[in-house]
Amino acid sequence: MARPGGRVDPRIKSGDGMTADGFAVHNRDFCFRGNDRVAIGRGVPTSAKSAPVSAALADLVRRGALSADPLQAKAATVLDGVAAGITNGNGRLFGRRKPVRGAYLVGAVGRGKTMLMDRFFAAAPVTAKRRVHFDEFMDELHQAITAFRKGPRGKAENADPIAAVTRPIVEATRLICLDEFQVTDITNAMLLGRLFEKLFAGGVTLVATSNTLPDDLYRDGLNRPLFLPFIEELKTQVEVVRLDGPTDYRRLKLEGEEVYRFGTGPEVRHGMDRLWLKLCGGVQGKPDTVHSLGRDIVVPEAAMGAARFGFAALCDTPLGARDYLRIAHAYDALMIDGVPAFTRGNASAAKRFILLVDTLYDRGLRLAASFAVPLDELGQESRLAGELQRTVSRLVEMQSTAYLEAAHKPL
Ligand SMILES: Nc1ncnc2c1ncn2[C@@H]1O[C@H](COP(=O)(O)OP(=O)(O)O)[C@@H](O)[C@H]1O
Ligand SMILES: [Mg+2]
Repeated sequence: MARPGGRVDPRIKSGDGMTADGFAVHNRDFCFRGNDRVAIGRGVPTSAKSAPVSAALADLVRRGALSADPLQAKAATVLDGVAAGITNGNGRLFGRRKPVRGAYLVGAVGRGKTMLMDRFFAAAPVTAKRRVHFDEFMDELHQAITAFRKGPRGKAENADPIAAVTRPIVEATRLICLDEFQVTDITNAMLLGRLFEKLFAGGVTLVATSNTLPDDLYRDGLNRPLFLPFIEELKTQVEVVRLDGPTDYRRLKLEGEEVYRFGTGPEVRHGMDRLWLKLCGGVQGKPDTVHSLGRDIVVPEAAMGAARFGFAALCDTPLGARDYLRIAHAYDALMIDGVPAFTRGNASAAKRFILLVDTLYDRGLRLAASFAVPLDELGQESRLAGELQRTVSRLVEMQSTAYLEAAHKPL
């Protein structure tokens, strides 16, 4: 239990189980080496290499970015296993990839499902991987199926659109991470069985997050018996991991915080920087990109599920409703610096801002923002004053505890 240099790390106890800060301990001694935990006694090492998700989680806990959570630590070990399966089990077996197990992280909102999936995605030892919101994935498939049907091959009598659109996915992807898996409409319900049968047979690993247990998916849906084989297939292929702890971290994060700042002085910027640190748990933000309709939206700074934009980069640039939805799907908190007073001169930015707030509101995203003027003066000079009044009332609601407690609402 010595750290390099002989210092004893007080957080580490030996014996199976969890230390106070969430490290999984496997009944052996180990030390720290950089961010890796490396076994120095008998047994299998728990290092960034052999247990990448547990190691990443433990590192964030150690740095104070996350609270220790035993259920999350347990889920991380399952995800370590999935990562190992990708490394070890993907050799092509007689020309086909061997199926590997995935995971289905399920629980109420704010339990860290997306956070864990993102840690897993970053750590997964494969480049042919994709992380996408479930709705976007299904939209893409429907579009591809429609395009296939219109094309020459789609007119053939034996045309199989699902096989045709699944083939390129299997060829190009070893891992798919789907956020917010849910089945509410019959088109998706009827498509999923055949789709995943092919993806799993092709050896694609699935990691998904959801608020709904597999057995409850598409509950009370039309023709549900036809959907049941998909549930069975899903349960055989992936491990269902429940994240049902008592803590809603999402609600905790901005609780008691002033999420809006007013004015333009350095103290406003300072306050926003402090809020941002809190949103990211101190993790350094990095530029990111959100893919939308074949183009990339540049996100100046993002970390731990939060994104930070200057007002102009979001609303003074040709982005539309779909782009805002993509952004809302990619993050669970947004920070906007420098929302101006709306006047005659910036009506298109005002229109976009109205659209943006509607999208964030509908998705239940948390918002932190700085405004040049108090909210009731925001739209006074604008010809969109009426519409902006509704936006302001939404902004007011978005600071409330009730809003912060509400689940993400599907659109
Ligand atoms: N153990 C934790 N300690 C502190 N914050 C956490 C922890 N787990 C998750 N969070 C934060 O709580 C928020 C909600 O987590 P998220 O993964 O989006 O939840 P879910 O997908 O289950 O709704 C995110 O900002 C995330 O970074
Ligand atoms: Mg989530």
